[in-house]
Amino acid sequence: MTKFIDSPFVEEVKKITFRLYDHGWDERNGGNVSYRILEEELANFSDINEVKRNIPIDFDGKDLSGMYFLVTATGRYFKNIIDFPERDLGLVRIADDGKSVDLMWGYNDGASPTSEFPTHLMGHQAKLKQKPSQRVVMHCHPTNLIAMTFTQKLSEREFSRILWKMQTESLVVFPEGIGIIPWMVPGTIDIGEATSAKLKDFPAVIWPQHGIFGTGSTIDEAYGLIETIEKAAQIWTIVQAQGGVIQQEITDQDLKDLAKVFGVSPRLEFLE
Ligand code: 13P
Ligand code: ZN
Repeated sequence: MTKFIDSPFVEEVKKITFRLYDHGWDERNGGNVSYRILEEELANFSDINEVKRNIPIDFDGKDLSGMYFLVTATGRYFKNIIDFPERDLGLVRIADDGKSVDLMWGYNDGASPTSEFPTHLMGHQAKLKQKPSQRVVMHCHPTNLIAMTFTQKLSEREFSRILWKMQTESLVVFPEGIGIIPWMVPGTIDIGEATSAKLKDFPAVIWPQHGIFGTGSTIDEAYGLIETIEKAAQIWTIVQAQGGVIQQEITDQDLKDLAKVFGVSPRLEFLE
């Protein structure tokens, strides 16, 4: 029997949280990740069979009860998770009443799930209804994207169009475009409801002057989505620094041609 700390799930989260930190997208305790793990994937671990602690959550997640999530702890630094996974990560099972979680592994110095756990759970709920393969919600603070939320109108159409036109890959990776909520206080049920409502239509949601929530079936998919969005924001920033005059643009017709060849369906109301 293997210990959970040696599982591929812990390995993946250790690596990705360090990469997120290394990009400068998760300063201090910025960012959080939740990864849904299937019960059958947990069968062979010897140290996750008894509840270590019950932790109340500020949310009613009844329709997720029985589900397992590997979740980053609140207040912990992404730069440290790679060295202290059993302290800064927890494997939790949503309890039957939906209002608490059973800790099965980790958080070994008394930690609790991220303050954004309600948003993560609502995000999983929203995405699972559309896509049973949904497993990952990832939140981080990408620098160029946040900067754009100060200078650009918070229009989903305009934001998505800029990001689509800053590199050929964008439309292929997020043909639905990107959702945006107004600035809101983080860590609340309200921001969770606003975010998950947007996640019904979009794979990622911008939190203005704060960061982004991305989703996916795998860690790589959620990370790759955020990475692509931030890369487009970075190119936009550099284009502005070079004077902002576009001599050759990716046109709306180019985007349509791209979608056809790659077999993706772009959000047509965002195109001209
Ligand atoms: P946590 O430390 O609670 O995960 O919060 C970090 C964050 O980015 C809040 O939005
Ligand atoms: Zn944040």
